[in-house]
Amino acid sequence: MTMIPNQRHLFDIPEGVTYFNTATMGPMTKASVEAGQKGLARKLHPWTIPDTDFFADTERLRPLLAELIGADTDGIAFSPSVSYSLATAAKNLPLSKGQEILLLEDQFPSNVYAWRDLAKQTGAQIRTIGTRGNETLSDALLAAIGPETGLVAAANVRWTDGALLDLVAIGKRCRDVGAALVLDLTQSCGALPFDVKEVQPDFVAVAAYKWLLSPYATGFLYVAPKHRGGVPLEQNWITREGASNFARLIDYTDAYAPGAQRFDMGERSNFALLPAFESAIRTVLGWGVSNIAETLGARNAALADRLAGIGLDCPPASERGAHYLCPLLPESVPADLTARLKEDGIFVSRRGDRLRITQHLFTTDADVEHFIARLAHHIAA
Ligand SMILES: Cc1ncc(COP(=O)(O)O)c(C=O)c1O
Repeated sequence: MTMIPNQRHLFDIPEGVTYFNTATMGPMTKASVEAGQKGLARKLHPWTIPDTDFFADTERLRPLLAELIGADTDGIAFSPSVSYSLATAAKNLPLSKGQEILLLEDQFPSNVYAWRDLAKQTGAQIRTIGTRGNETLSDALLAAIGPETGLVAAANVRWTDGALLDLVAIGKRCRDVGAALVLDLTQSCGALPFDVKEVQPDFVAVAAYKWLLSPYATGFLYVAPKHRGGVPLEQNWITREGASNFARLIDYTDAYAPGAQRFDMGERSNFALLPAFESAIRTVLGWGVSNIAETLGARNAALADRLAGIGLDCPPASERGAHYLCPLLPESVPADLTARLKEDGIFVSRRGDRLRITQHLFTTDADVEHFIARLAHHIAA
């Protein structure tokens, strides 16, 4: 593993902007935006787009997405959102009355509503797992998984506070009791190493517009081998066997293209978004996810020390994602703290009683100095 030097030059973030909001919206690199612009411009001359390009972009990208999570290419489907992916997962996970669906307290709504709907349809019950005392969120979830658990829907880090889950242990516990495991890795994919072979989840949903520095409405769904014969959310033509023969599309067929392709979203061959998406994923893979985690982890450890110096405590490094830093705010902080910081050119989120600080490789030491100085000023005011 290597520490990655600062990459600000790849981005269009002016000096006066201090951006600590990757968890809300990751900026794209200039090169990725250029690739997207070129892709969009192809529609100026549609006669130059060959039929084969309805397949070429997706099939170049599918193995790269697989590489991000240690999956096989056949396990990857294109999806525009986590809600789309989880609706697909819910459609393919039969539960019965009396079984439990375990969710984390304060989980992202797209990873709650899908399961509320499934619970309504099947009579399964939702149980929400929080922590008591000094217990970690990971231990609380592990302890809650039992014979009545039908499904665990979780994440690698909780989006509000970066609480880290031991997914290898959780995956094993799910298998021991016969429960399905569905993960939303939107807040960690591209910033924390993850391997489907170690965790063995049933489905993994990822929205790529945050840590994968990709356009909005790009993402993917990983489907475990045992679900690849399942039912897609929508029935479209391009996921069918033989779809590349445009002259014969009216020879309707019930046979799907191999692997998880049957779950691909309609109009997956998005000529504007896919080149930008591919550029972003190549950039992330080029840096290396382990290197990103190590670099952001070291920078966040240093930032946590600086925050402690102004009286703000972060959870210990072992209990949070390396890329996430969420200090607890004292009750006395101004209600409009993030608005005040915005006036200083600092962009950061507040989630409940915590500040959510998510830097990336574009963050400079000067950004950190400016942030600490202005934060200290506002919390003392
Ligand atoms: C954990 C998590 N999952 C998913 C999403 C986005 O969900 P969707 O793609 O359904 O809009 C977000 C956005 O903030 C998120 O933080």
